[in-house]
Amino acid sequence: MKKYLVIGNPIQHSLSPLIHNYWIKKNNINAIYEKEKLEKASLKNLVSKVKDGKIHGVNVTIPFKKDIIPYLEELTLESEQTQSVNTIYLNDNKVTGHNTDIDGFRLAIQDIKFDISKKHILIVGAGGVVPSIIYALMKMNVNKISLINRTKKKAEDLKKLFKDLNLINWDEIQNFDMIINATSVGLKINDELNLDLSKIENNKLFYDVIYNPRETNFLKNAKTLGNKTENGKKMFIHQAAQSFKIWHGIQPEINEEVERLLD
Ligand code: ATR
Repeated sequence: MKKYLVIGNPIQHSLSPLIHNYWIKKNNINAIYEKEKLEKASLKNLVSKVKDGKIHGVNVTIPFKKDIIPYLEELTLESEQTQSVNTIYLNDNKVTGHNTDIDGFRLAIQDIKFDISKKHILIVGAGGVVPSIIYALMKMNVNKISLINRTKKKAEDLKKLFKDLNLINWDEIQNFDMIINATSVGLKINDELNLDLSKIENNKLFYDVIYNPRETNFLKNAKTLGNKTENGKKMFIHQAAQSFKIWHGIQPEINEEVERLLD
């Protein structure tokens, strides 16, 4: 039986095992997908298990998407350019890192039929998933990406990776077509981001990377003000499907049953 894993810290809330084991069963694959809480010091050992064929694939989540990189033998262009790995597999006997968050985000935006080209996007936050979102937005030919983060240093680090990024301060939120909450604010139901959106017209797209809770205050308030909203569920499903395709060579079906699994 083949063994797959998602690693992170914390990891207990990860829904990756649920979705992967569902697809494994649906496709009659002899495999199991588990979750494991790791410390940074164990990353090297984990990679060697992939090399030795003891583990056949790994998803990497917060906080290890960058930390894992030095232990890998090969990176795809996407993971190299975002310095972020969420999927590990053995390719030509080399432990390889790839980033399916990028396509996950792109396909989620495609699903909701939002025409993103030439638009001005504002990202709030600079955490683990942000390089992937920026990379995807650039591939989708947006006009401008502005970014705001509580800790300026992290925003500046991102600008080193993406030179065209427009860094702004909390008091200079300009008009935008789409705003993305990529902070962890909203994971707790009463969490609220203090954004002054008084100068923003309605009918924008508010996107939250968080999907549990289903509707953060960020999305709730946006809806009340007459904007379109979308949570991160589709992105999560698509990134998982892309990893599944890499490991098993099968494009898994995304249907309502899959979506309900995550509710
Ligand atoms: P990591 O930073 O480990 O990748 P993350 O959950 O992906 O973790 O990112 C957390 C993001 O939420 C960061 O952008 C963080 O801002 P800082 O860089 O200043 O830490 C942001 N964040 C968390 N709590 C916040 C708060 N109360 N107000 C504003 N931003 C917050």
